[in-house]
Amino acid sequence: PAVETVTRQAIARHAGMQGNLLPILHAIQHALGCIPAGAVPVLAQALQLSRAEIHGVIRFYPHFRQRPAGPVRLEICRAESCQAMGANALADHARRHLACDFHETSPDGKVTLEPVYCLGLCAQSPAVMVNGQPHARVTPQKLDRLLQAQGC
Ligand code: FES
Repeated sequence: PAVETVTRQAIARHAGMQGNLLPILHAIQHALGCIPAGAVPVLAQALQLSRAEIHGVIRFYPHFRQRPAGPVRLEICRAESCQAMGANALADHARRHLACDFHETSPDGKVTLEPVYCLGLCAQSPAVMVNGQPHARVTPQKLDRLLQAQGC
C-alpha cells in the first residue's frame, strides 16, 4: 500500500542518520498530508522503537497530523493585538462550532483549525485567514458567514 511504500522510502532516505525520526515524519506528512496509522508499525520496526514512542512524538508536535487536513483551512490570529480585540472568544466560538481544537480537523472532515501569529492586520483585529485569504474585524457571526460561504 501507498502508506507503507512512502514510509519505507522516507526511512531509506534518512537511513543511518542520528535522530532521524523527525525528518522521516516530515517526509511522510509532506507526501501524504498526514502520518497515517499504518506508518507507525513500519517505523517502529525499522527504527527499533516502540509504537508508543512513535505515537508520543507524533502527538508532541502539533505540526504532525494523524488525519488529512480538510479542504478548508481556518487560521485564527492568536497574537497580542487580536487577543486584545476578542480573538479568544472567536477561537472558543470556532472550537465549539467546528467541534475540534487547534491543529485538528472538524469531525465532518471539512475544516482544519490552525493558530497563526499576526497576519499584519493588527489595526483591524481580530483577523483570520480562510484558505489563505485574510479577513479582518471578524466577529463570531462573520466567521460563521465566512465558513458558510465555503460550504461549511
Ligand atoms: Fe493579529 Fe496582528 S495580532 S493580525
